[in-house]
Amino acid sequence: MPKDRTKISKCLFPAAGYGTRFLPATKAIPKEMLPVLTKPLLQYGVEEAISAQIDTMAIVTGRGKRAIEDHFDISYELEHQIKGTSKEHYLTEIRDVITKCTFSYTRQIEMKGLGHAILSGETLIGDEPFAVVLADDLCDNNGSSVLSQMVTLYEKYRCSIVAVEEIPPQDSNKYGVIAGNMEEDGVIRVTDMVEKPDPKDAPSNLAIIGRYILTPDIFDILRDTKPGKGGEIQITDALLAQAKEGRVIAYRFEGKRFDCGSVDGFVEATNYFYNKKSI
Ligand code: UTP
Repeated sequence: MPKDRTKISKCLFPAAGYGTRFLPATKAIPKEMLPVLTKPLLQYGVEEAISAQIDTMAIVTGRGKRAIEDHFDISYELEHQIKGTSKEHYLTEIRDVITKCTFSYTRQIEMKGLGHAILSGETLIGDEPFAVVLADDLCDNNGSSVLSQMVTLYEKYRCSIVAVEEIPPQDSNKYGVIAGNMEEDGVIRVTDMVEKPDPKDAPSNLAIIGRYILTPDIFDILRDTKPGKGGEIQITDALLAQAKEGRVIAYRFEGKRFDCGSVDGFVEATNYFYNKKSI
């Protein structure tokens, strides 16, 4: 059967960043492999994508990130050692993930920002709409996952979608911040977006978190996007070009989000998942 190119079947995981806020832990271990309880951040992200019926995981890695590829592969020695023992169940979840989807990888050679990392993934995505998950934003829901909610919304709007949440005004300089007009409850048609504005310049208190659906024309826009804030190629700047044509929706998702790229958020997530497990 020919592939339906309007359906979201691929998820891109930019995972090439240096993770400097977690040094020295991230000197030899990718930030995306830091575990919340026993599961690496990236596996949570992949499981979220699977829950949104996505079966192709495209991961942008960099130097020193080989642990990621090994994680989503069979370890024959381990399988051999553990098979038939009381410890075998520890492998159930990761085996399940490996059998449900395929993984492909590319390397970002120079870390020139999130927009550049996404552009590096073009070779894995091709000419179709796709999801993006930043694994250091860990999301949890009792109902359908944030990405499932966004894929459903994509069926209706057929344009790029960014997940947003309300932030305290003083935190605006850590996020891309949007402005726009209400389409329906929780859905905003974006008219403006600013990367890491000072609180006094923030167009609203709605910040973009690490979940996106992008239409493939974003790659051409990214190719022409000049380095912005911090000298990096910003996805926010590329999305602004689509927003100016009314082609970006912001979605106030249902669920909890933890900023596991920061130590505070990581500890909060660990406590949350530990308490949830103990209930
Ligand atoms: P962050 O800015 O949170 O990640 O990027 P970082 O740069 O690794 O972290 P710090 O600030 O140094 O502690 C968000 C996501 O984008 C990826 C990161 O791996 C992370 O998942 N990213 C960022 C890239 O893949 N390439 C880049 O050039 C920048």
